[in-house]
This record gives sequence, C-alpha cells and structure tokens, in this order.
Amino acid sequence: MKILVTGGAGFIGSNLCDYLISRGDYVSVIDNLSTGSLDNISQLQDNPRFHYIIDTILNRDRMESLVQECDVIVHLAAAVGVKYVIENPLSSIETNICGTEIALKLANKYKKKILIASTSEVYGKHMHAPLREDDNLIYGPPTTIRWSYAASKLIDEFTAIAYHRTKKLKVAVFRCFNTIGPRQTGLYGMVVPRFIQQALRDEPITVFGDGKQTRTFTYVVDVIQAICRLIGCKEAIGEVVNIGGTEEISILELAERIKAIVGSRSKIVLVPYEQVYGKDFEDMMRRVPSSQKLKALTGFMPQTPLDEALKKTIEYFRSRVTLT
Ligand SMILES: NC(=O)c1ccc[n+]([C@@H]2O[C@H](COP(=O)([O-])OP(=O)(O)OC[C@H]3O[C@@H](n4cnc5c(N)ncnc54)[C@H](O)[C@@H]3O)[C@@H](O)[C@H]2O)c1
Repeated sequence: MKILVTGGAGFIGSNLCDYLISRGDYVSVIDNLSTGSLDNISQLQDNPRFHYIIDTILNRDRMESLVQECDVIVHLAAAVGVKYVIENPLSSIETNICGTEIALKLANKYKKKILIASTSEVYGKHMHAPLREDDNLIYGPPTTIRWSYAASKLIDEFTAIAYHRTKKLKVAVFRCFNTIGPRQTGLYGMVVPRFIQQALRDEPITVFGDGKQTRTFTYVVDVIQAICRLIGCKEAIGEVVNIGGTEEISILELAERIKAIVGSRSKIVLVPYEQVYGKDFEDMMRRVPSSQKLKALTGFMPQTPLDEALKKTIEYFRSRVTLT
C-alpha cells in the first residue's frame, strides 16, 4: 500500500513510518518540521520505499500531488502541545482547521481513504470516566486559549463526518489520549518527556497545579497498532474512535513513579499553572478513555502496562540526555 503520512517527522508519525516501512508499505511524508525533526526519520532516508518532503500541509499544490499518488492518508500534522498552542494561537488554529480541510478536500477529490488524528482534549472538562465517543463535550470560554486546540480538532471531526455523510468519503477519526514513547519531545508541554529529562538530570521535577489531575498514558506502539487496524477496518468509516490506555494515574504519582524508575535524586515541586501558562489557564482534571468501541471495531485494545511504557521511554531518553 502507498500511505501518505502528514506530520510524519513527528513523534507518532515517525514511529508509524518505521512500522509501515517494516511491513512493506510505500510511505510518503510531508512535514514542515515545526515540532518534528529530520532526526526522527533519518533511519528511513535511504529506503527506496520512503520519501519525504519538507513543506507545509497548507501548500495545496504540494498536497495535491502527494494525495494523487497514495492509496491512504494518515493525517497527523497539527499544531500540538498545550504550550505550543498557547504560544502560537493563530497559526495553530490555521494549521489544524485549514490544513485538515485541504487534506479532506483532496482525499475527496481523488477518492482516497483518510484517517484524521483528533485528541482526547475534545472531551473538555469532564470529571466522569470512562469517556465515550458519544459523550457531550464541555469547554471553557474562547479567551482561554487552551480550548482552541480542542475546538479546532472538533471542527476537523465535524468536517470529516460531513464529508462522509455528504460525499461518502471513506474517513475515520481517531481521538488519541496522552501517548508516550521514544521521540516524543518535552519542548511543547508534554509531561512524560519533561519529567523523565528532569529526573535523569536530578533537577526538580515540576508538577503543574496540585498534581491531583489524572491521565492515562498509551505506549506509541499500541497507538500505531490501533491506527493500522483502523486503516483496514470498513466498519470504522464515518466513525470517531478513542485510542487510549486505561491505567489512570495522577500527575503527582506519575512524577513519583518516574523518579523511582530512573532512581533519581530529584525533588518533586508543585508549580502554579499561572506561573507556567499565564493567568487564563484551565486544566482538565481527569481524562480516561473507554476503549470499547476500538475493541468492538478492531478487536484491539492498548495493552502495554504503564510501567513498561515508562521504562522503554526512559531507556530512550537515557541514551540521549546529556548529564551535567
Ligand atoms: N502525542 C499525543 O499525546 C497526542 C495526543 C492527542 C492527539 N495527538 C495527535 O496526534 C497527531 C501527532 O501528534 P504527535 O504527538 O506526533 O506530535 P508532533 O508534534 O510530534 O507531530 C506533529 C507533526 O506535524 C508537523 N506539522 C505541524 N504543522 C505542520 C504543517 N503546517 N505542515 C506540515 N507539517 C506540520 C510537525 O512538524 C510534527 O512533525 C497530532 O494530530 C496530534 O493532535 C497526539
């Protein structure tokens, strides 16, 4: 199969490319390297079945030639990370809404199957668990910039479903919950790589807020398995599906767990949100997925235990962090 991976030089994208190439697919990538990196795909550059272009998905002509040549599109390119979105509010909305619209329009023009990456952020401020795909969504006001990420991804979901309903486009949306693993960067607000790097350097591990907010974390290999199953799943067309781990953990406990696995001497310190993100910041206190729909559609559920995922991610960073 020929697969176009937008955002393929990013964390999930580059791991997906590795897997697709290993199973014999042809893979094209478009990435503007805004949060991704050439390092992430350097191992693939000499492979004749791999091809990449450094450009933005907002370049419609470039996207058109790539879409024409592929069988399936996995659309991952997006402005990602709370910190990145808060620091780049306008361009993030443009990338996430206009970029996805271009991808969908071209997929429809050339009748190509497309999978759209969405996010657990779309659920907003729920306190109940587990979150099901048909739950209502609860957001804060537009002056709280963080919600623009959720809202822009939600528009992507609406647009995808509208293409399916009106044009019969073969499209599926997957909502990733916090994903972790090798190549994720801590630069844009992702908690696990940040904690691991702080722990490896024996620096204070900085927990934002009171640390009582909870999350689940999915190992990237599980996310890739789920995406690949969805590519082949006819019943997923026109659907929105969660991809997430089930082990709920508070961010304070996560810091303690990482500190223990690393064997670090770091102190764990609480930092008020305002100090990190400014005064109009709101967090989600809980985010746990239901995996029932993914399981029913594909027979697959994320399986890697959190400790194992953390150990593998720590191994990756251990080999890269410069200790001073
Ligand atoms: N990692 C997670 O925990 C998580 C959680 C929920 C949803 N997601 C979604 O999964 C997808 C991949 O996320 P990731 O974690 O790999 O993040 P990432 O930042 O590593 O990957 C995104 C990639 O898109 C590229 N990109 C951004 N704007 C672009 C543009 N205009 N043109 C071309 N390329 C562009 C970036 O350079 C980067 O390589 C995103 O759509 C994200 O919203 C990820």
